[in-house]
Amino acid sequence: MSYRLIVAADSGELGSRAADLLAEALAARPDAVLGLPTGRTPVSSYAELTRRSTQGGIDLTRAVAFALDEWLGVSPDHPATNAAFFRRHLSVPLAALHLMRSDADDPAAECAAFQSLLRESGGLDLALLGIGLNGHLAFNEPGSGFDSRCRGIDLAETTRRAHASEFGGLAATPRRGLTLGLADIMEARQALLLASGPGKAAVLARALCGPLTEDLPASILQRHPALVVVADRAAAAELPRRAA
Ligand code: PGA
Repeated sequence: MSYRLIVAADSGELGSRAADLLAEALAARPDAVLGLPTGRTPVSSYAELTRRSTQGGIDLTRAVAFALDEWLGVSPDHPATNAAFFRRHLSVPLAALHLMRSDADDPAAECAAFQSLLRESGGLDLALLGIGLNGHLAFNEPGSGFDSRCRGIDLAETTRRAHASEFGGLAATPRRGLTLGLADIMEARQALLLASGPGKAAVLARALCGPLTEDLPASILQRHPALVVVADRAAAAELPRRAA
């Protein structure tokens, strides 16, 4: 496998490098279709995009974005939804930001509609991705098929624990989520994986250098033909010095 590795000094520089790569993609294709993650990791990238967009350094007004996942069984007004996350962190005019509904009555129908919309948009040009402590990609928890598509999924306990404080405790944290599948993500023409902090060092190295396995969903990225990894020094600590 091969991937391009960019090591940033810290999370702030990571955001700036990720914004550079998005700017390059948008220069080539102003109406690019983007897949966007939530979580702590992309916050600095979204802050940088918001800053550049406000100052006129980047133009996302023709870009279409799809949120990669959403919690299920929670009101769209809840501050811990991914919809609320984007309202807080990405103050950038986009042609559209599509999200699955966190209060969908019929998750299968919601996912089918979202998948159709993505297909009609021509698929993802660039998927911005985070990696979970358990190796998940979007809400594709361990055990997700490499051929998986947009669907409802039972969330791993580690995922729920990582977000329990936002929902006021583990008991109140949703047990289900909606997510684009690994096959949907792999169809992105470019994949940009972000990782920040020492807690991600081991899982990032296993995903990129370990066995390709559905037990570690992010390992599927080893098969992606256009993968760029932007990691801060702490997250890159266990990677080989030079990407193969
Ligand atoms: P984090 O989440 O950025 O908050 O670490 C990443 C993920 O779970 O995919």
